[in-house]
Amino acid sequence: MSTDDSNSLELASNSSIPRHIAIIMDGNGRWAQKRFMPRAIGHQAGVKAVRKIVEYCARQEVKVLTLFAFSSENWRRPEEEVSLLMGLFTATLQREINKLDRNNIRLRFIGDRTKFSDKLQEKMLEGEFQTKDNNALTLVVAANYGGRWDMSQAFQTIMEKIMAGDLESQDISEQLINQYLSTSDLPEPDLFIRTGGEQRVSNFLLWQLAYTELYFTETLWPDFDQHSLEDAIKSFKSRQRRFGHTGEQMLDKSITLI
Ligand code: IPE
Ligand code: IPE
Ligand code: MG
Repeated sequence: MSTDDSNSLELASNSSIPRHIAIIMDGNGRWAQKRFMPRAIGHQAGVKAVRKIVEYCARQEVKVLTLFAFSSENWRRPEEEVSLLMGLFTATLQREINKLDRNNIRLRFIGDRTKFSDKLQEKMLEGEFQTKDNNALTLVVAANYGGRWDMSQAFQTIMEKIMAGDLESQDISEQLINQYLSTSDLPEPDLFIRTGGEQRVSNFLLWQLAYTELYFTETLWPDFDQHSLEDAIKSFKSRQRRFGHTGEQMLDKSITLI
């Protein structure tokens, strides 16, 4: 590639920091197993990594950080690990809500929360209510979340509205479906990160990732720190997001993108 080409790419890339980062925090179990420790220790170390990444994003201009904490498929794990994760989730919430609030962070949950214990559901509501007016960073925790669940619940509500006569089938459009997803009020993720070496989406934000830049790293989640995130953001900044246009069109500032 000539110097000229790389200059054009630089110019055409989205040079700003991603507004919305979505992360699959994978590799806690392997992190512990590598140290001959129980998986539980890996999950605890994972919580520490969460704290650092949230703090970093709040200091930057990131507006939304979505973290995949527990997937709708994670119930398939041994009962002991599921109950450990639930306990850790509850304890972390209890401990962190005030701190998030002091740092002007708005906490949100996406996913089917009806499967959680009453106590956990209460804590989730409490956290959302206490931080609802904060506007530095929105921290979205995906818990018992699945991309397919999100779409089905949206279609169900749309269907109910059609049956009630509040909507007509012709009204169904991408914009309308968007409005009924759990992320309706959030910008689409600009950058998706998966730690732990696997290159798959594991039923995360299926609809929302349509034009997200994907970044995979071998780093196990408990080892993922500010520098790892800076590497991911650097990779993001070097890319040219074309949204279906040609590279040349992206250089022409007079055209409307998307
Ligand atoms: C991610 O780490 C955390 C959750 C899914 C809750 P894993 O527990 O999947 O760790 P690995 O993939 O087994 O190493
Ligand atoms: C995805 O990780 C879910 C979370 C990080 C919460 P998994 O470890 O569950 O994904 P698979 O099973 O390897 O696809
Ligand atoms: Mg895993």
